[in-house]
Amino acid sequence: MTLDHWQAIKALPQIPLTSLFEKDAGRVANLGLEQAGIYFDLSKTHLDDNAIQAFRKLADAMSLSVKANALFAGEPVNISEGRAAEHGAERGTGNPASVDNAAMLHQRMKSLIEVIETGVLGDFTQIIHLGIGGSALGPKMLHQALRLGDEKYELAVVSNIDGAALEPVLERFTASKTLLVIASKTFTTAETLLNAGAVLDWMREDGITDPLGQVVALTADPDQAVEWGVDETRVLPFSESVGGRYSLWSSIGFSVALALGYEVFEDLLAGAAMMDRHFQETPLAQNIPALAAFADQYYAQVRGCETRAVFAYDERLGLLPDYLQQLEMESNGKSVTLEGEPLELHSSPIVWGGVGTDAQHAVFQLLHQGTHLVPVEFLAVIEPGDSLDPAHHQGLLLNCFAQGAALMAGKKSDDSHRNYQGDRPSVTLLLESLDARTIGALLAFYEHRTFVNAVLLNINPFDQFGVELGKQMANALAADDGNPLDASTEELKNRAFGPGQ
Ligand code: F6P
Repeated sequence: MTLDHWQAIKALPQIPLTSLFEKDAGRVANLGLEQAGIYFDLSKTHLDDNAIQAFRKLADAMSLSVKANALFAGEPVNISEGRAAEHGAERGTGNPASVDNAAMLHQRMKSLIEVIETGVLGDFTQIIHLGIGGSALGPKMLHQALRLGDEKYELAVVSNIDGAALEPVLERFTASKTLLVIASKTFTTAETLLNAGAVLDWMREDGITDPLGQVVALTADPDQAVEWGVDETRVLPFSESVGGRYSLWSSIGFSVALALGYEVFEDLLAGAAMMDRHFQETPLAQNIPALAAFADQYYAQVRGCETRAVFAYDERLGLLPDYLQQLEMESNGKSVTLEGEPLELHSSPIVWGGVGTDAQHAVFQLLHQGTHLVPVEFLAVIEPGDSLDPAHHQGLLLNCFAQGAALMAGKKSDDSHRNYQGDRPSVTLLLESLDARTIGALLAFYEHRTFVNAVLLNINPFDQFGVELGKQMANALAADDGNPLDASTEELKNRAFGPGQ
């Protein structure tokens, strides 16, 4: 059944982008869609009415709207773990009991922020937020995007087990002024707990007698945090049904809410809720996350694109590609269908990227003339994030727009070295301003797009068993239980630590 739909999609005529514009004067109006302060320009993709129609049929055959309803209703859509995926409930969209629970936990978080603000727990002006993956990437990205630089709290997000990440923070920070925030859904992650122990030692060495009194824990396993030593009153739980890479909306957002103000966190949730409503209520032909996913699938399955590149033409959004890598690759990097059968389509593209204009002078050569076809995503913000001569911001945006135009138009030359093939697709997201509400909508857009991609692929985007084996092997290597791993790995270990270590 769906094979027919994929065949219809693969049989679509491959019309060059410039011809699509010539044929349809309304193309920009139809594929330039606005929502929650963001203009999404999908007109420089190869989607046209026929392609959209073909993908709508596929989406219907894959029961997209039924599956979206199940997601928001809190049904156990994460079938391999028998769990719901209720990040929507964190922003008020979903199963009423889960929405109420999330609101109650947010209130608890707000109350703790108010207590910290009174100073009774200590005279804190610095926050070390420890976490990794979904427990770090969102808070770090958001803080970089929204900080103005004049906040009361200095925030350092540390994730890596590499001591070179934590040490400079400890050298810079003052133990008595530091609030330690330990963010871990499971509260078992080795990197985070090792770093947490190191921060407590640092506090003790500085003469602090009760370092655990300066700790807040953000987790879906509060008992584990209490057992580790965190006082229950400073444990901020979130629901087990909120996945790590979808958890910024839960208490995992605590450090940002404290550093930038709780109202910033509320705006983030409100922006995401706007996108939730758009995704739930808009027909597929105008549904922005769905259309973006249609383009993703078109390039992955029809044009054989293995990667998608994301360039933020705004320094403040410099960590967005990292965040999206986890969201998309950990969600949709799977080899089996929901039924556990081999996936016969390409799973998530490899997401990579950087900031413009820097990337133009480093990697854009391949985008313009390489043999790989790479769909590109540009992000830019109309309101500047700096107060220098407006020439800076104008130059930034003009470069962004010019790159999309050049990729599409190309330029013919008799000299093959100087020939630009063109017909290379891009999507541009133009944000009116970079505020919490707009970022909330932006991230929710990416979540829903990831979900639609998973539905079209018939995979489960909410588990991540692929990361477990490496963790087990690291533990086995550390345990050195007399069961050596392969000869190459043993040699590496011997060279690093000496034989028998
Ligand atoms: O190893 C992958 C992963 O489980 C991610 O899914 C998660 O975001 C990250 O590790 C951190 O996990 P935790 O929040 O439980 O410490």
